[in-house]
Amino acid sequence: MVVTAAHCTDGQNTNTIKVVVGTVDLSSDDGQRFDIKRIIVHQEYVAPSKNYDIALLQLTEAVEFNENVRSIALPDEHVFYLPNTIGTTCGFGYINEYKQRTTQLRCVRVQLWGPEYCNGDNIPRVTKNMICAGLPSGQQGSCPGDSGGPFVIDNKLVGIVSWGFGCGAVHRPTVYTNVPRLRKWIDQYLTI
Ligand code: ARG
Repeated sequence: MVVTAAHCTDGQNTNTIKVVVGTVDLSSDDGQRFDIKRIIVHQEYVAPSKNYDIALLQLTEAVEFNENVRSIALPDEHVFYLPNTIGTTCGFGYINEYKQRTTQLRCVRVQLWGPEYCNGDNIPRVTKNMICAGLPSGQQGSCPGDSGGPFVIDNKLVGIVSWGFGCGAVHRPTVYTNVPRLRKWIDQYLTI
């Protein structure tokens, strides 16, 4: 089962999405490639607002874990991460605001914003199903094309790249899907 952003599946179906795991270079043919059996989009996901921006992709076959491929743990539903906790986010998206591309996976460390700054009064359209992260000085962060990717703290999937303002802009966060809050929703589709 692969976790992604619901908006990454907008207009897609099980034939148009493929999953590749175990590569850090899109121009290589490293890794394992998979077809999709089922796309599960959160029932309350709304495309324009990006609320509940989460989907699961069920693969037709099991992934083989190795030194480049493993599963990720999910945070508990009620965990609270302190503001400014540092996490890592990775992606194949644009490398700057000028839409320059790369085929290499890139990762950056960004800081979680506290709920006192990351809320709908302060940042229009932010809901409780979202968390914000970025760097106070800007310079690095998520960019278009990174969506659906992870925001990881302590080896747990705390966020999913969802939307944002610019790329690594000063005082502007990237907004990630709040995975702890949607943990129960994910669990119902995982068979133990
Ligand atoms: N929604 C975008 C995507 O589909 C990326 C989200 C991050 N955007 C940002 N400006 N920080 O890839």
